[in-house]
Amino acid sequence: MKKDFLSIADYSPEALQDILDLALELKKERKEKGENKPILKNKVLGMVFQKPSLRTRVSFDMAMRHLGGDALYLSPNEIGLGQRESVADVARVLAGYVDVIMARVFAHQHVLDLAKWSEVPVINGLSDYDHPCQGMADALTIVEKYGKLKGLNVTFVGDGNNVAVSMMHICTKLGANFTLAAPEGYDLPEKALKESQGFAAKSGSAIRTLRDPHEAVKNADVIYTDTWTSMGQEEETEKRKKVFPPYQVNEKLVSEASKDVIVMHCLPAHRGQEITDEVADGPHSVLFPQAHNRMHAQKAILVSLFR
Ligand code: CP
Ligand code: NVA
Repeated sequence: MKKDFLSIADYSPEALQDILDLALELKKERKEKGENKPILKNKVLGMVFQKPSLRTRVSFDMAMRHLGGDALYLSPNEIGLGQRESVADVARVLAGYVDVIMARVFAHQHVLDLAKWSEVPVINGLSDYDHPCQGMADALTIVEKYGKLKGLNVTFVGDGNNVAVSMMHICTKLGANFTLAAPEGYDLPEKALKESQGFAAKSGSAIRTLRDPHEAVKNADVIYTDTWTSMGQEEETEKRKKVFPPYQVNEKLVSEASKDVIVMHCLPAHRGQEITDEVADGPHSVLFPQAHNRMHAQKAILVSLFR
């Protein structure tokens, strides 16, 4: 049966750990030998975008090139997913041309429908619900710093959005404690919270949802933040700018966490809003290695789909 990579929630802790181990291996291979083995030779990735992207687009494209394959970029205007053509028809047509599809969509249902109708594997490159490729790159970044996720305290400060959902998924699957500090009305989706509570019970970790960012970062090994307004929510920008300032990740907040805390952000960052320049460019920041790990993690995700 074909595999898809739609959500971290669908994968077992063992399978997620295998992907992380493979990512580390492929990263080391490229660093030491200057190249990877062409394990995806003759494979082509079709990349469907309904939203803009820097990291997702370039890191997937380069991941395919490094592994001997190729990638096709399909812009929002080209396909008109669900508008010019139904999602089911797009999936069935595209699957006849390419070997794997990555899609960045508005409605999560669209990525589920692509997977349902496509004969080739489908990867979720961000939906309004979650961002699993980001979660895997973030886990890789944390493993590089701490050696593991188990037992760490990870605090997400800001909106309980798609990136927060994937962070919660990977933390609870692999045994890290996850805390969200969000204003009222910006909590995590109930479904994600419920399923993650189940993962946490199995891995022995805990989930906390708090309002107070200061309480939330106490003893944090990782502080994570993201934009206050995600793609597709632009009409709420002004309202959100009034609600979120107490959740800014600044030097004062970082000083209240563990001494060696790392600060993460999936980027793009809105400097001066959710994160200050001092923190983004400061000694605790891992923002750029984290962005670069998108490519390494996605190599492993791609390879795992053909195993
Ligand atoms: N973090 C992330 O997904 O970035 P892009 O929107 O640039 O792809
Ligand atoms: N939460 C952000 C992440 C961007 C990579 C968004 O969905 O716009």
